[in-house]
Amino acid sequence: MKGLVLSGGKGSRLYPITYTNAKQLVPVANKPVLFRVIEAIRDAGITDIGVVIGDTGPQIKEAVGDGSRWGVKITYIQQEAPLGLAHAVKISRDYLGDERFVMFLGDNVIEGGIVPLIRQFAESDWNCQIVLTEVEEPQHYGVAELDEAGRIVRLIEKPKDPPSNLALVGIYMFDHHVFEAVENIKPSWRGELEITDAIQWLIDAGYRVYPYIHRGWWIDTGKPIDMLEANNRVLEELEPRNEGYISPDSEVKGRVVIERDAQIINSVIRGPAIIGEETRVINAYVGPYTSIYHHCLIERCEIEHCIVLEHSRIVDVPIRIEDSLIGRNVEITRSQTKPRAYKMTLGDNSKVGLL
Ligand code: DAU
Repeated sequence: MKGLVLSGGKGSRLYPITYTNAKQLVPVANKPVLFRVIEAIRDAGITDIGVVIGDTGPQIKEAVGDGSRWGVKITYIQQEAPLGLAHAVKISRDYLGDERFVMFLGDNVIEGGIVPLIRQFAESDWNCQIVLTEVEEPQHYGVAELDEAGRIVRLIEKPKDPPSNLALVGIYMFDHHVFEAVENIKPSWRGELEITDAIQWLIDAGYRVYPYIHRGWWIDTGKPIDMLEANNRVLEELEPRNEGYISPDSEVKGRVVIERDAQIINSVIRGPAIIGEETRVINAYVGPYTSIYHHCLIERCEIEHCIVLEHSRIVDVPIRIEDSLIGRNVEITRSQTKPRAYKMTLGDNSKVGLL
């Protein structure tokens, strides 16, 4: 089997974080979501992986490289515009050939990996397998309607009036019949070739399409709140370790990872939390569900339930920072000059909650 990872698209719901970077490269517990996807596919025994890229292709290529770091071979497939998930399949035909493949959306994080799924599909004569899970707001996803025997009757993309609470998880398995399907569907109301329509086409044409019901957690990291939620879940599963320095006057409690050459000086860290490479935490408090990425400075401040990206500095902030997603190279400091006022340089679509 081959793997196909979709890493194009715009990421507009994660603006401003994704103005300057691909959304699939935003880290969850200090590891880009896309790396987690590649590892899940590799762990299922698949080493030939195609990655569909769009405008952010150069950043993705730089971050992922040829895949040798994971023991896999990566082939990049350029998509000229985000014309839909089924369009991404269409342009990958030469790469995929006649092999069965798993398609994994590069912004999805799933509990427990995909080993059982791949095994089930590989041993079957099915033409397609989809993954479904119960969600609270199905209208934001592709939704499946099943009959009493558990067979798929209908799939609808982001329905206003969902027929069930079973959402399509961004993991799909296909054989070559999907190419017939993508040739036969038309763009949807949002102008995209929808993978749900392609799968519906397979069902209507009498091909064998089966659902797998996923029982653990699953997160589509589309919005900042989803990123924080995915971060919470992954942090809860981390094995604590210390590859940095913790000064004797510091207190580190719970599930905490201190990455290489990080320094914790006269500070309190309460897990689950992760402190990235060469980051310094000085006279500060880092509370549960916080990920601080590499080369940051957290000094004389308190921070909890946040993701902070690389090279950011948070110094001398008098009130605790919570529930925040803070980008790269951001500075939050106390103003030294008069008049005393909030002084900000914020990107488009930034959000600041003041007291
Ligand atoms: O996450 C699960 C949902 O993913 C499913 O429930 C939906 O049925 C499915 O359509 C999809 O919905 P989204 O609206 O969340 O898809 P999004 O546009 O966010 O794209 C998902 C990933 O695929 C993302 O990493 C970007 C990439 N992509 C997207 C498009 C439209 C591409 O590489 N090329 C594309 O043309």
